[in-house]
Amino acid sequence: MKILATIAEAQALPNAKRRVLVPTMGALHKAHGELIRVARQAAGKDGEVAVSIFVNPLQFEPGSDYERYPRPEKADEEFCRNGGVDFLFRPPVEEVYSTGRSTFVEETSLSSRLEGESRPGHFRGVCTVVAKLFNIVAPDAAVFGEKDFQQLAIVRRMVRDLDFNIDIIAVPTVREKDGLACSSRNQYLNPDQRKQAMVLYKALEAAANAGEKSANDIVVLARQVISEAPLARIDYVELVDAQSLQPIEMVGPNSVLLLAVFFGKTRLIDNIRLP
Ligand code: PAJ
Repeated sequence: MKILATIAEAQALPNAKRRVLVPTMGALHKAHGELIRVARQAAGKDGEVAVSIFVNPLQFEPGSDYERYPRPEKADEEFCRNGGVDFLFRPPVEEVYSTGRSTFVEETSLSSRLEGESRPGHFRGVCTVVAKLFNIVAPDAAVFGEKDFQQLAIVRRMVRDLDFNIDIIAVPTVREKDGLACSSRNQYLNPDQRKQAMVLYKALEAAANAGEKSANDIVVLARQVISEAPLARIDYVELVDAQSLQPIEMVGPNSVLLLAVFFGKTRLIDNIRLP
């Protein structure tokens, strides 16, 4: 596995083989492993898998966890090596963001609500770095997880609107045994919070399996299940159309229930398709 730290090195790679990119912020876990597996499959035996690890300051709102975000460099390297990764692109922050930069990529419709409302500037940071990674690594395809449902929708929209010639491959949410979606942020949870965090998936499943059609009833039900966990503080629970991310009143063929819930300072997100 080649480890590249500069843009020049990455852009100097020969471009003959099919290349599939998995963008990450590191602290790699089981779900990233699944994205890498899917990338390996999509690249084929002659293709290349590239993983990027970059904790992107632009997508962390002021006062959030940028500084304390875990950066286990050696373990991440090993993880990629074991996953059959060909290139690990891991630039320092000054390499990616030169002083005096004044260009950003901003999606202006899907980004305005949900995560976008709770985390102003977050998706501008995501779109800017993903567009840069696409230009730097020049992949034929890139793999993203459905756990970050809104991020996936926004990346697809950016690719469409800005004519990136890159296939976006979606991977279903990978979960722990009790249903909690894998996330680098789960390690911030103390044992009580971790135990109670399983209500999130319990709530999503209960809501999806209740056979309810009214968005209001579904959201009330999900909120009720979450309230069984005294340490949970709901940011939002919303039923939206999976394409437009606009709120809907009744379950349709393309509905998704999205939630964001705090346990202490740790904010967790999850989602499920309905019906
Ligand atoms: P990060 O949180 O490291 O996630 C990297 C990729 O792994 C994303 O596509 C995310 O959706 C996916 N992922 C994380 N947990 C998952 C789970 N439990 N199941 C399925 N997929 C999961 O998302 C980011 O980094 C950044 O915003 C990034 C796209 C790299 C831009 O900086």
